Amino acid sequence: MSNLTNSHLMNTYNRQPVTFVKGEGVWLWDEQGNKYLDALAGVAVNGLGHAHPKLVKAISDQAAKLIHVSNIYHIAEQEALADKLAEISGMDKVFFCNSGCEANEASIKLARLYAHNKGIENPEIIVMERSFHGRTMATLSATGNRKAQAGFEPLVSGFIRVPYDDLEAIKQIASRKNNVVAILVEPVQGEGGVQIPTDLQAYFEGLRSVCDENGWLLMLDEVQSGIGRTGTWFAFQHTGVTPDVMSLAKGLGSGVPIGACVAKGAAADIFTYGKHGSTFGGNPLATAAGLATLNAIQDESLRENALRMGDLISEKLKAELAGTQGVVVIRHAGLMVGIELDRPCADIVKMALETQLLINVTADKVIRLLPPLMINEAESLELVERLVKLIKQFLAQ
Ligand SMILES: Cc1ncc(COP(=O)(O)O)c(C=O)c1O
Repeated sequence: MSNLTNSHLMNTYNRQPVTFVKGEGVWLWDEQGNKYLDALAGVAVNGLGHAHPKLVKAISDQAAKLIHVSNIYHIAEQEALADKLAEISGMDKVFFCNSGCEANEASIKLARLYAHNKGIENPEIIVMERSFHGRTMATLSATGNRKAQAGFEPLVSGFIRVPYDDLEAIKQIASRKNNVVAILVEPVQGEGGVQIPTDLQAYFEGLRSVCDENGWLLMLDEVQSGIGRTGTWFAFQHTGVTPDVMSLAKGLGSGVPIGACVAKGAAADIFTYGKHGSTFGGNPLATAAGLATLNAIQDESLRENALRMGDLISEKLKAELAGTQGVVVIRHAGLMVGIELDRPCADIVKMALETQLLINVTADKVIRLLPPLMINEAESLELVERLVKLIKQFLAQ
């Protein structure tokens, strides 16, 4: 039913006129049998590509054994995934939920509890301009985009906003407020237009110091940048700085809904019995998918691939678009790629779809690519070739 609006669905998405029926690797097929190059991967979800055999087997085997039991019992797959996340992050403990906004909700609750335990009655969390943390009331309040907030007032209080990549603004807050408890920040802003701090290392070292000096928690939203996307398991691993709290989702389950709030040190013991929970969070099916995903990323060197293919795509785009009027800048961190134009470019998404290429536009003027981590060189070059043609065509209109 690709061209029909289903009137029984709430109108929360501006859906493209296509229905996909199967996928394999970086490719998707629609109902008519047309083949599309998927450079969006379900918005950073399908890191393994579509229908990865190891993932399909893990999910099928688990579904045949046990899909769900309550968290009031021990769940072996959940404990194994928590062990694996602790091993690859250097952090200590995990709370499992079902999505990115829930992972951030857990981080926000954790920070508030940490504050109340210290006797701070009215805690505030520093958040960034242009950030995106989700659509629940607390996470849309933390989000730095009025569009996500408008119409949902009153917002949740307790957030102070500063410009992204601006340590000085944070230091000023530290000098005049004594009720701040945490900083919540995306290492790379995805929805905000693939924004990367000018010097990620220095920014993160600065954030770590200001948190240590003031007893604040450094909380990273790695929902989009985590799970191999930027070429390391987590984007913070480019810097040598470890956070106290990190939220994950998207790529973790390769499409089986799962989120995680991961914590280290004192932060790992803040939630105690009865303070948080989730019916589905970390159930056997979702955690089996998570384990299969992490194992495949490791066994197939997909972090290394993401780094190489990200560089290749970005270099080729820069070479092919050099001197093209209308292209402002090309940014990338592994396989998070943003091409900023000098004008709004939402229409290019539809043009791309017509040429059987899936991309997305975020923050009005930025074309965003988030291809599967397993994209190969030939596919990357094909992506660049198709995209360059499109961008030139779009800009010439
Ligand atoms: C950085 C970041 N945080 C949180 C979210 C929200 O995740 P979810 O849609 O799974 O709630 C997103 C989604 O795009 C995101 O990019």
